[in-house]
Amino acid sequence: MVRSNQNRSPRRMPPGTVTLYEVGPRDGLQNEPTLLSPDQRAELVQRLAACGLRDIEIGSFVHPRWVPQMAETDRVAELLGEREGVRFWALVPNVKGYELAVEAGVRRVAVVVSASETHNRKNLNRSREESMAEIARIARACRESGVALRAYVSTALGCPYEGAIDEGEVIGLAERLAELGAVQVSLGDTIGAGTPRAVRRLARLAIERLGPERVALHLHDTRGLGLVNAYIALEEGVRILDGSVGGLGGCPYAPGAAGNVATEDLVQLLDGEGVPTEVDLDALVETALWLERLGLQPASRYARFRRASCRHDKEER
Ligand code: HMG
Ligand code: MG
Repeated sequence: MVRSNQNRSPRRMPPGTVTLYEVGPRDGLQNEPTLLSPDQRAELVQRLAACGLRDIEIGSFVHPRWVPQMAETDRVAELLGEREGVRFWALVPNVKGYELAVEAGVRRVAVVVSASETHNRKNLNRSREESMAEIARIARACRESGVALRAYVSTALGCPYEGAIDEGEVIGLAERLAELGAVQVSLGDTIGAGTPRAVRRLARLAIERLGPERVALHLHDTRGLGLVNAYIALEEGVRILDGSVGGLGGCPYAPGAAGNVATEDLVQLLDGEGVPTEVDLDALVETALWLERLGLQPASRYARFRRASCRHDKEER
């Protein structure tokens, strides 16, 4: 599994496409005080698909007492069915969640484990190794049923309870998850603690060990370094970035966690670099503003800029 990357120039963005993995309907909504109905959640997913996003996490099969915002994800999945050219994913925290997801017709699941033992216990009520054992069972079930598996390593760049996290621990978990069959391992900066230097080191190591087709980065923008860190990761060869429409998001079991880096900000960054994404930026901003009309509070810079320039245009007329 170890890859050699010795000839790669580390300081320029390598050519090629970038895949944006949309977590808005799951991570974006799970920490919001405004709860959307299953119909509204399904509409959000359809709007995002119409924007050109091809990988969308539609929700999670978690206990509704733990995360009420994600209750009835089975209904969301049922409303959505399949959509040609779009891959719908759902987060499952344990075997029970996996079973509920498959029962609801989901064919792509994402599992999660924390690099931090304390965060894993707070988030999943299990030790890290207990979660890994559950993930191994889910991975076996996925193989047997042809269900695709993605995996997150949370708190990969810092933990709200334990502080700094050893990158060796993160990479060790990522390798184990890849060996279990995860097609992508998404390194989660759950509380946006990552500095550009730390992101560069982790991204470089992950790409070396897993290869660019397996490494995703999941950045929360708590301290305003989300886009910078995304750019650094792209320079290091990361080719899959998680984003959330409107910059919504946060883990309810990670105090201080703010929204994910906004998908529209990522699209703007990539457009500016000439990296094709096939995502319609205007339609994406319109989706963020639609969420605002439903009572949510998009935090993306690009949506704010567009809102302000629309207001200005109206005043001019
Ligand atoms: P638990 O209380 O330990 O569960 O919770 P249990 O196994 O002891 O079972 C207790 C009851 O819950 C049983 O029901 C189970 O059937 C039921 P009873 O017999 O009492 O009637 N149950 C479930 N019900 C619905 N869905 C399930 C499920 N599992 C058991 N999946 C559990 C364990 C994992 C369920 C709980 O801790 C949980 O729901 N945690 C989820 C927390 C969460 O959603 N956090 C946010 C997502 S992770 C994240 O945001 C990070 C990420 O974005 C990356 C990053 O930013 O770093 C991915
Ligand atoms: Mg997250």
